[in-house]
Amino acid sequence: MKQLKIGKTKNNQEIFLWTFENSKGMKMTVSNIGAVLTNLWIPDRSGNLQDVVLGFDNVLNYATNDNNYLGSTIGRSANRLANASFELKGTIYNLTKNDGKNNLHSGPNGYQLRIWEVKNINKEKDMIVFSLKSLDGDQGYPGTLDIDVTYQLTEDAVMIKYQGISDADTLFNPTNHSYFNLNGHQNGSILNHRLQLKASYFTPIRSNDSIPTGEIKSVENTPMDFRMEKTIGRDIRDEYNQLIFANGYDHNFVLDKVGKFAKLTGDQSSIVMQVATNLPGVQIYSGNFLKETSGKLGTVYSSRSGICLETQYFPNAVNELNFETPILEKNKTVEYWSTYSFSVEE
Ligand code: GAL
Repeated sequence: MKQLKIGKTKNNQEIFLWTFENSKGMKMTVSNIGAVLTNLWIPDRSGNLQDVVLGFDNVLNYATNDNNYLGSTIGRSANRLANASFELKGTIYNLTKNDGKNNLHSGPNGYQLRIWEVKNINKEKDMIVFSLKSLDGDQGYPGTLDIDVTYQLTEDAVMIKYQGISDADTLFNPTNHSYFNLNGHQNGSILNHRLQLKASYFTPIRSNDSIPTGEIKSVENTPMDFRMEKTIGRDIRDEYNQLIFANGYDHNFVLDKVGKFAKLTGDQSSIVMQVATNLPGVQIYSGNFLKETSGKLGTVYSSRSGICLETQYFPNAVNELNFETPILEKNKTVEYWSTYSFSVEE
């Protein structure tokens, strides 16, 4: 493990980068700004390391300059809330409207912009635990929430764990917003990556505001069907209202079961990423709205430079009778996990 001191924020908080390396040469770098995943180097078919996540060279940019949520830990509650409000135990809570009339990723003061405490570093296990206290009323949510985010690099995977406990009932639906490009972050579009998803259903959106209708719809005979591996680009331009609303894939898929649900393959690198989780859904976001951003190595990222697989409870679930709600009950600890395993296709 290597620790690198980067500097201080305006409020005099020290910023670090930590890099963990496993025996296969995979390397993972994270920072206490936003508990963000900044770099992930994976050996490709030729044994060259590819950094497979989009991000910035200057880590301070994550706290000031990122409206794309590159590598971010999102909280308290990921994705969208219709009308930026919800009711819990008879009380209505209002959040910031930062996506038209709705709330996206909990608003402008998201956890990705906070400076997290470092609770524990375990060099033997290549593991770091960040923690954050989110006070009662923070972003508009009830309850003081203590959250731990653990990153661990194992022999073939990155594991991200989210643990939360609150002193009042609240919503807790964290995710990670890394944009993956398995050919290497600087290598253009992900449209030729191949994707397989163990998801027989998805949650259609009502319009270009991306709020689900509440329906749980079969992917059968639609461009949303990734049960058999296909390239991300194959059907993305189909005249299908869901793809037109979102300008591509930006939808919640209902995972068939807990465990491995995705296989993504970089067409140039032959790097394969398999993703597993104990959460019920995943937002597949093909970077449709990625605003032109100057990223690592001077690379200009734009639409489709990366794909996010955001494990989550379904969007707007608290306002939707049909969906399981991410309510975290008072004084109960909950733990969610997602693992991203890497290999090379033979
Ligand atoms: C995704 C969301 C997209 C877009 C993106 C951030 O999670 O589904 O619609 O808002 O975040 O740019």
